[in-house]
Amino acid sequence: MASKEQMDALFAEARRAADFAYAPYSKFRVGAALLGADGTVYSGCNVENRSFGLTVCAERNAALQGVAKGCRSFTALAISTPDSEEPVGPCGACRQVLSEFMEAAAAVCFGGSGPRVNVTMGDLLPYDSLHDLSTKNN
Ligand code: THU
Repeated sequence: MASKEQMDALFAEARRAADFAYAPYSKFRVGAALLGADGTVYSGCNVENRSFGLTVCAERNAALQGVAKGCRSFTALAISTPDSEEPVGPCGACRQVLSEFMEAAAAVCFGGSGPRVNVTMGDLLPYDSLHDLSTKNN
């Protein structure tokens, strides 16, 4: 279980990642940081496209960065949305993708410039079917 200090550090990493956001259309920067089971932090930002539907969210970017480096298990996630005061949680598509590589008990923290929300992956995606059938060794 990630400690409060680890979550604070992870959130700081997510905030830094938001500075790399490519968001000329929405002007809404998002940064995400994932703590790998190996202790490594993987971060990502949203990357928009003029063909709007091709936009990649920060959370999926971070997950793919980790998987591309050989990490298939993340124990905590932090999301920073500095352009909002309200906390903004991950979109439905990202919840599904993240659940492939995160247990229901994994800690999730998200926030904008105001207060942060602390939940678990299970809170974000309850009754997650087929979770245990993931092919972690393939
Ligand atoms: N966005 C994310 O990166 N993550 C989310 O969970 C919500 C939305 C991005 C997509 C788009 O670039 C911008 O935020 C506005 O929707």
